[in-house]
Amino acid sequence: MPQGGREVKRTSYQLDILLRVNGTDYPITLDTRTTLLDALRERLQLTGTKKGCGLGQCGACTVLLDGKRVKSCLWLAALAEPHEITTIEGLARGEELHPLQTAFIERDAFQCGYCTPGQIVAGVACIAEGHTNSPHQIREWMSGNICRCGAYDHIVAAIEDAARAMNARTG
Ligand code: FES
Ligand code: FES
Repeated sequence: MPQGGREVKRTSYQLDILLRVNGTDYPITLDTRTTLLDALRERLQLTGTKKGCGLGQCGACTVLLDGKRVKSCLWLAALAEPHEITTIEGLARGEELHPLQTAFIERDAFQCGYCTPGQIVAGVACIAEGHTNSPHQIREWMSGNICRCGAYDHIVAAIEDAARAMNARTG
C-alpha cells in the first residue's frame, strides 16, 4: 500500500489499523510490533509525546487511552485501535490552553521541558481521578512520572492550581 508517497513492502508482520488520536482517525499500515509511542511519533508526526527510557519507568511517553493514562512505550499500537487516544497535542482547545498547561507556565513547572508533556498528560488524569486532595497525594499518584530536573514542587503546585480552577468551573 502506498503511504506518504512511497511503497510499503508488505510482510507477514504488517497490519492495517485505524488509530483515533485527538479526535482524528488515522488509517495506517504498520508492523504489528510497533509501539504506540513509535506510531505516534514516527508515523503520525505527533512528537509532543517524548521517548525517555522506553521501558515504562520514566513516564515521558504518557498518553490517555479513553481518558486513562498509559505509558505508550509499553503499548502495541495495534492494541490501541478501538480506543480514543489523547496526546499533549490534543489538550488545548484551539488557542486556549488546557488549565493545567496554563498552570505549568504560571508555576514555572519545568526546566529542560523533556518530561513536561508526560507530566501534563498524567496530571490531567490525576485531576480527573480525584487524586489531588493534598500535595502528598498528588506526589503519590504522579510518582510514575520522573523529572530529572527536579521540578517536583512546582509540578505539584501547578496540579493543585489546575484542580482548584477546574473544580470551581464544574461547580
Ligand atoms: Fe515510556 Fe519512559 S519512555 S516510560
Ligand atoms: Fe527537565 Fe523535567 S523539566 S526532566
